[in-house]
Amino acid sequence: MEKTISVKELQDKLDNNETILILDVRPFDQRDEWKIADSVHVDAYKQLNAGDETALDMVEVSKGSTVVTVCGAGRTSLLASTLLQRKGINAYSLQGGMKAWNYAWNTAEIAFANSKVIQLRRAAKGVLSYIVGSAGEAVVIDAALDPAVYQTIAKKNGWVIRYVMDTHIHADYVSRTRELAEASGAKHLLIESAKVDFNFVPVPDRGTIAFGVSSIEFIHSPGHTWESTTFRLDNSAIFTGDTLFVDGIGRPDLKADKKEGIQKAKALYKSLKNLIYLQSEILVLPAHTSNSVSFDNKLIADTITNIKSNVKVIELSESDFIQYTEARIPATPPNYQIISGINKKGSYEGQVLADLEAGGNHCAIA
Ligand SMILES: [Fe+2]
Repeated sequence: MEKTISVKELQDKLDNNETILILDVRPFDQRDEWKIADSVHVDAYKQLNAGDETALDMVEVSKGSTVVTVCGAGRTSLLASTLLQRKGINAYSLQGGMKAWNYAWNTAEIAFANSKVIQLRRAAKGVLSYIVGSAGEAVVIDAALDPAVYQTIAKKNGWVIRYVMDTHIHADYVSRTRELAEASGAKHLLIESAKVDFNFVPVPDRGTIAFGVSSIEFIHSPGHTWESTTFRLDNSAIFTGDTLFVDGIGRPDLKADKKEGIQKAKALYKSLKNLIYLQSEILVLPAHTSNSVSFDNKLIADTITNIKSNVKVIELSESDFIQYTEARIPATPPNYQIISGINKKGSYEGQVLADLEAGGNHCAIA
C-alpha cells in the first residue's frame, strides 16, 4: 500500500518535536539548491527510477522509527517509501516533494518591553517574514505566506493588523503583502520612493508609524534595491530586509548593468554604514537566512555588535567593498525578473506560484 504524508502533516509533526528520519533521495545538484533542514541525503534517484531493489540498502534505519522520503515533486520518493515499506520500515512519501515543501513554515519569537515579534520562516527557502504585536495592534512585514497564516496568528494573540509593508520589491518570492492588506483591511505602506503599479500609503525616509504602544521608523537603505528600507521597531530591533543579514550582506546587482551595479554597491555601502552606527545591541531581523530552517523555534537574529565582528565586509573601505561584492555575486535567483515584475504589479493572477518560486534563495553575499 502506498503511504504518503502531506506538507501540513509533516510540518505539524516536526512542530510537535516528533522524531522523524527525513530521507532525501534527489541527485546532489538538486540537494545543493535547497533541502529540508536536518534531513539525510542519499543520491538514489537513478537507481530508484531504474527499479534497483538495492537502491536504499545503504540507509540505516533504527527499528520502530518513522521515515519520510522526499524528492523534487513526490514521484521518486514514492518508489523509495515503497521499497522501505517492503523492508518492514514505517515509511511515507512527502506529497508534492520539495515543490510543495516550499510552503512549509515554522515560527520563533521574541518579546520586548512594548512589543512581541513573531518570525515566520519558510523552511525550505529560508524566507523570513514577521508579525509584530503591541497592545492589541499588529504590523506585518514582508508577508510571504498565505494571508490567513498572519490573520490566524494575529487573532490568537488578540491583535488587529493595522499596517502591512515590505522592506523592498522582492525578486525571489511573490510578496503576499498586497493580498494581506485586502484580506485584513490593513493599510499598505511603502517608502515613498517605491516604484510600483498599485496604490499604497507612502512613508518618507525617517517617517514613523505608531501602533499599540510601539512605533516603527522607516530608514531608507538603498543598495540591494533602490527602494530598500529598514524598519526600526522602537529601540528594540531593525528589520533589514535583504540589506543586512545575520551572516552576510545583500547583493546589489539584480536588474542592473555594470554601471548601475557599482552605483548600487556604493549605495549599499552607505546604507550599511548607517545601520551599523545604530545602537550596537539593537537586534537585526533580516528577510532571509541562507540555510533551510530547522523546526527549532530559535530566532534567526543577531546584534549589530556580533554581526560587525562576523561580517568583515562591512568594515572595508568603499573601493574594497565594491571589489569584494563584485567578486562574490552568487547565481541569480530562479525567475527573478518575472517575480519582481509580479511584485511591482502587485498581482500574481494567472501564475502558478509553486512553479515560479521553486528553488533556493540567492540573496546574500557571505
Ligand atoms: Fe531581495
